[in-house]
Amino acid sequence: MCGIFGFIGKRAAAPLLVEGLRRLEYRGYDSSGIVVKNGDLQVYKKVGKVSELSSILPNHIEGYSGIAHTRWATHGEVNDVNAHPHLNDKADIAIVHNGIIDNARDIRKRLEKKGYLLKSETDSETLAHMITIGMDSGQTPIEAVRQTLKRLTGTWGLCVLFKDYEQIICARNGSPLLIGKGDGESFVSSDPHALSHHTQNIFFLEDGDLAIIDRDGVEITRLEGGVSDTSMTVVEDEWEEADISGYPHFMLKEIHEQPEALRRCITGRLDKANGGAKLGGLKLEPVRLRTAPHVRLIGCGTALNACKIGQLAIESLARIPAVAHVASEFRYNDPVINPNAIHFAVSQSGETADTISAVKEIHLKGGEVHGIVNVVGSTIARLCGQGVYIHSGPEQAVASTKAFTNMVASLLLFSIRIGRTRSFSRERGRSLIDNFQNIPSQMEEYLSNPGPIEEAVELVKHAKSVLFLGRGLSAPVASEGALKLMEVAYIPCLAYPAGEMKHGPIALLEKDSPVIVIAPNDKHREKTVSSMHECKARGAKIILIHEDGDPISEEADVAISIPKCDPLLTPLLSVVPTQLIAYQTALELGCDVDRPRNLAKSVTVE
Ligand code: AGP
Repeated sequence: MCGIFGFIGKRAAAPLLVEGLRRLEYRGYDSSGIVVKNGDLQVYKKVGKVSELSSILPNHIEGYSGIAHTRWATHGEVNDVNAHPHLNDKADIAIVHNGIIDNARDIRKRLEKKGYLLKSETDSETLAHMITIGMDSGQTPIEAVRQTLKRLTGTWGLCVLFKDYEQIICARNGSPLLIGKGDGESFVSSDPHALSHHTQNIFFLEDGDLAIIDRDGVEITRLEGGVSDTSMTVVEDEWEEADISGYPHFMLKEIHEQPEALRRCITGRLDKANGGAKLGGLKLEPVRLRTAPHVRLIGCGTALNACKIGQLAIESLARIPAVAHVASEFRYNDPVINPNAIHFAVSQSGETADTISAVKEIHLKGGEVHGIVNVVGSTIARLCGQGVYIHSGPEQAVASTKAFTNMVASLLLFSIRIGRTRSFSRERGRSLIDNFQNIPSQMEEYLSNPGPIEEAVELVKHAKSVLFLGRGLSAPVASEGALKLMEVAYIPCLAYPAGEMKHGPIALLEKDSPVIVIAPNDKHREKTVSSMHECKARGAKIILIHEDGDPISEEADVAISIPKCDPLLTPLLSVVPTQLIAYQTALELGCDVDRPRNLAKSVTVE
């Protein structure tokens, strides 16, 4: 989704801005632009990739400060005019903005009445004109920005550059913004990946913060006045920049990184002696775990699929009601919150607006939320103040893979932790932990010999639609497989609990319809095999994901075997072939695997 990068210092700004935009590319966008202060404010913007913006830039642009933007359209079509930065009429103020200004329509009307000529269809451009009105009436830049923001409803991550002032003003409300402090230079970005190689001294702005940055310093105040509490954090953990390391795509690299990422996630957290799990960041005492009335898990997309696995594992191991919720629905359904319940917000980016809203709803109603988050210091991590970092490392492909497996692993660790407190024995715990320790090498084993993925791709790549089936823990794995294939290869996919298939989706099946069946050797296997037979009887082609040595493989058109493991842990292995099928299909169809159309890596608007 939209990205912001800014720089002020003693180095040429333009190359740094373009490089910053490149590092934001993975988030998904449709156009980009930069403005550099070089006497005047020089603006360049272009629809398409950052490389297209680069192609229209002069070889050399003077100037030591500037701001830049990647746009993911919300107001107004995708064209050069609607791309950011936006200038005021006098071209002495430039802004870039992430988020949505809800009252922009009224503001536009008022500005037009006053004679301002709005060039774009965006909500963002109004800000440049409002700041101008403030400054024309004698306000300082910071005061003009403050008074402008006070008149807005909506969300913003905002940067303002002035022709006549050596500073950038930044503000945050609901859209992430970070300031990085280097030696004699300062940076601003909506995403830590764009700052990581410049500095580790970071100010994570909070909602309602307003900052002035210049070469030498950062001054942060609150929108309503007074100094902000936001202080500098030195970020070390997980802070490296991801490079593609010889892989053709980040998605493939991240699929192959899963064993190592999983090791990072579980190391030090498996408590072999007690048959339990240690999750220090959770701050949940045994008495809380014992007396909690229920567990709620909230997320979107892939994170939601991980929540559904968490729900089943927690109920099964701890005998406590658990339920997974679609984050975008949560607060609008006015949920009843029990302050004694345990709530989890699950998110790779930690910046998903729908999930953030759900966290705020729970807080408002007196509940506590634990984050299960990848990006260290992200909004959800900070809002929750407690939780589990999943330690996947930077995930650059829009399609989430290694974050899914580590979200699932973290939730399984929690289910073991709460299960040991409430229900199951040390022996069962120890056996699970033994199995858990083996999963990373079993993943490696599978990835070194992934089976007939190409054959599966042949059946799938020209299909009108693909049906994914699984039962129990494999039902959410089916959903995740379907989501992945849909988002990267643009093939309509349906995922159903296998038993539900005969109640509707079976109508779709015709000769050669591909059906991907996930059937590990758990208590659901027999029933899943019956559903598979029902599909075969209608002429469907079966791609079966099964455990090594299971004779049901003979009944499939394409059989992909995964290593045997404890039934509770199968999602960690069974999802991997579905990721490979999605990747390989997208590749065959010539799709942009890492940056699928219309999608964004972190969805920061509701
Ligand atoms: C995953 O492949 C998707 N790109 C998407 O569904 C994603 O999982 C969802 O937007 C939630 O993101 P988050 O984990 O960063 O909150």
